[in-house]
Amino acid sequence: MRYGHFDDTNREYVITRPDTPLPWINYLGCEDYFGLISNTAGGYSFYRDARLRRVTRYRYNNVPLDCGGRYLYLRDEKTGQFWSPSWQPTRHDLEGYTCWHGLGYTVITSRYASIEASTRYFVPLGATLEIWQLTVTNLHPSQTRHLSVFSAVEFCLWDAWDDATNFQRNLSIGEVEVDGGVIYHKTEYRERRNHFAYFACSEELAGFDTQRDAFLGPYRGWDRPAAVERGKSCNSLAHGWAPLGSHHVWLSLAPGESRQITFLLGYHENPPESKFDAPGSLTINKQTVKPLIAHFLQPENVQAAFARLRDYWAELLGQFQVETPDVHTDRMVNLWNAYQCMVTFNLSRSASYFESGVGRGMGFRDSNQDLLGFVHMVPARARQRILDLAATQLQDGGAYHQYQPLTKQGNNAIGGGFNDDPAWLVLAVAAYLKESGDRSILDELVPYDNRPGSETPLLEHLQRCLRYTLERRGPHGLPLIGRADWNDCLNLNTFSSTPGDSFQTATSRDGRTAESVVIAALFILAAKEMAAIARWLGQAEQAQQYDNMAADMEATVVAYGWDGEWFLRAYDDAGDKVGSAECEEGQIYVEPQGLCVMAGIGSGDGPGRAEKALASLRQHLATAHGILLQQPAYSRYYLHLGEISSYPPGYKENAGIFCHTNPWIMIAEAIVGHGDQAHDYYQRINPSAREELGDLHRCEPYVYAQMIAGRDAPNHGEAKNSWLTGTAAWNYVAITQWILGIRPTLQGLQIAPVLPAGWTGFTATRTFRGVRYHIAVQRVGPGNEVQLTVDGQPLAGNVVPLPAAGQTEVQVQVTVH
Ligand code: BGC
Ligand code: NOJ
Repeated sequence: MRYGHFDDTNREYVITRPDTPLPWINYLGCEDYFGLISNTAGGYSFYRDARLRRVTRYRYNNVPLDCGGRYLYLRDEKTGQFWSPSWQPTRHDLEGYTCWHGLGYTVITSRYASIEASTRYFVPLGATLEIWQLTVTNLHPSQTRHLSVFSAVEFCLWDAWDDATNFQRNLSIGEVEVDGGVIYHKTEYRERRNHFAYFACSEELAGFDTQRDAFLGPYRGWDRPAAVERGKSCNSLAHGWAPLGSHHVWLSLAPGESRQITFLLGYHENPPESKFDAPGSLTINKQTVKPLIAHFLQPENVQAAFARLRDYWAELLGQFQVETPDVHTDRMVNLWNAYQCMVTFNLSRSASYFESGVGRGMGFRDSNQDLLGFVHMVPARARQRILDLAATQLQDGGAYHQYQPLTKQGNNAIGGGFNDDPAWLVLAVAAYLKESGDRSILDELVPYDNRPGSETPLLEHLQRCLRYTLERRGPHGLPLIGRADWNDCLNLNTFSSTPGDSFQTATSRDGRTAESVVIAALFILAAKEMAAIARWLGQAEQAQQYDNMAADMEATVVAYGWDGEWFLRAYDDAGDKVGSAECEEGQIYVEPQGLCVMAGIGSGDGPGRAEKALASLRQHLATAHGILLQQPAYSRYYLHLGEISSYPPGYKENAGIFCHTNPWIMIAEAIVGHGDQAHDYYQRINPSAREELGDLHRCEPYVYAQMIAGRDAPNHGEAKNSWLTGTAAWNYVAITQWILGIRPTLQGLQIAPVLPAGWTGFTATRTFRGVRYHIAVQRVGPGNEVQLTVDGQPLAGNVVPLPAAGQTEVQVQVTVH
């Protein structure tokens, strides 16, 4: 079954049935105010932090699915019939339902009873509010229609975790104000909060509601609110219980007539000293917000804000555009993959339809990796993110595993001890430096654990990252794994037999034995980046030291991290191998094959380890739906391995297709020169290429999912956990930098494609350090050798140096032999 299609020209995905296999969502907002919105208007909004500043409610893990949203109801005043133009929550049989998910906006249109309703939802740049722009048209040829329009949002009492659990208090604290048709949600404003939410409507109101139960009526859900059924609001004022915002507007439409209604849902902060209207009153001072509301209730300002948003995205995507022989590649690179990189950069793993928004804030390793796919779009934001992340690093070079976006403080509940974390900071900073050339970031004074007085230059933070690994090595000289490395579920020090223990924090061993080949590879990658940075800074001696560190670690991996046919995964607490042919289960893992080859281990050496590892992977791990995390799957729980063996075979880290790792293999295949194989793997998990498998894949066809069920699972090929995954950034890196081969380096833009044999070439435009490169690649032979001509002059090597100051356009012709 097809649920929609891509509209590449308009940069939209068009959903043509509301009953998609799962809610297919989009994100609104890309700065401070965010919303999740499904194809049937479900979802919620928050300011900066999905846990601590939740504006509206959403119910996870509850039936029916996708409950809570930006709801509108239309009611025919003559017949009393009412329906939701976004299908949910009333789920009437709509005609002509279409949902367009675009870049930072969603439009849902439908027809019912000869009424067409179309709502455009978006967050204007620079504002902390969302606009719902509703257009209602009477399609009836002869009848004037008298309609009621009702809106409804349910407010969250700010801290989404507390909101979902602390009822004994929360059912008594809700407070609102209604003023001139604007509903203000101000729970806890009387005490320490200086912020409130508001819900405004452009029309004169027939009525309103702010108490949920008055609007819905007892024992009713969102599908049948009593106020809508009756055609009349109660003008309720919430005191305690559950505050909501609902407007009621009357609308009469002559045949063919259209009318527009604008709703604004926003978040606003007041200066603490002038938060109240008059000293001594508890009324919100609205002088600061009223001009904003008035501004965005003007249709011409809404139009202008929408046009600005479109321009903004056109410019961001314009940083890198390609034209290749493959539509799926173009679509992902030019649009959806880049867009997903923005979303993962903004939200890390906090808020999606698979991440509740209350559990995880910004992950240290996650955000460092997300930056890799984002840095070329807005380098200045990447710079700030690096400084925020580095400020949660600890004195010993380790790092808090997560921090809350609102406070930017490390999260004590999870702490540190994930021994791969530090390496990712080095890789992120290296990516930023290559993209921007901005060496000043290395001198920025950054604290440890956000403690004033502890500041050192960022460069020293990076040095401490490497030292952290060097000082924590095990019996073979390989890095100790700590609580976990990249694979959060390989918990070699946990030994948990207590149900409900968190595998990530319940560490029970001292951690001085279990070692990780993955961290070794990451260390080598990081040390090599540090060597290149030192050389670039003119510090040859330092550079040599980093090279030596990398070489020592490489020798250790070759001596103790090679299993004969592939790279080993780890040594466990007993000193036994993990990911070895010797093991009963879990004999070969994907991560070390990818990362070791990327780190340059075994390329061009006598035994051809890189080639061998990739051939073994092809044999044991590659499936039509992507590359499995390991094989054979763990069939039972192993105390000494932890969470990885807690999953049923084929899911998540237990032999699922954990998509994040797949691009490492694409990169590795490109490094050894296999363009066909690299692009073939790329295509297997490419959501656009999987669109035709919709009934199996089930998740959105326009974004990557974290996981596709592995071949040990009954539903092999089914995707899960869409949107917030490191898969976005790494696929972007794999296709743009390694297959298409356009790579920023400290010295200039390197162009070294490793293309499929059948490709005759491709063209690209890439903005790099303010210069626009027009790149035309042509295949003239079967290999991967390149010859570059820059502005008509042949170039030695494949790194295009920056042009003389003032030149902003560069033409690069590339032939591949
Ligand atoms: C998941 C991992 C995740 C970890 C930490 C586990 O349950 O399987 O993918 O990294 O939780 O949140
Ligand atoms: C998801 C987590 O967010 C990420 O940090 C981790 O590397 C992967 N799962 C693998 O376990």
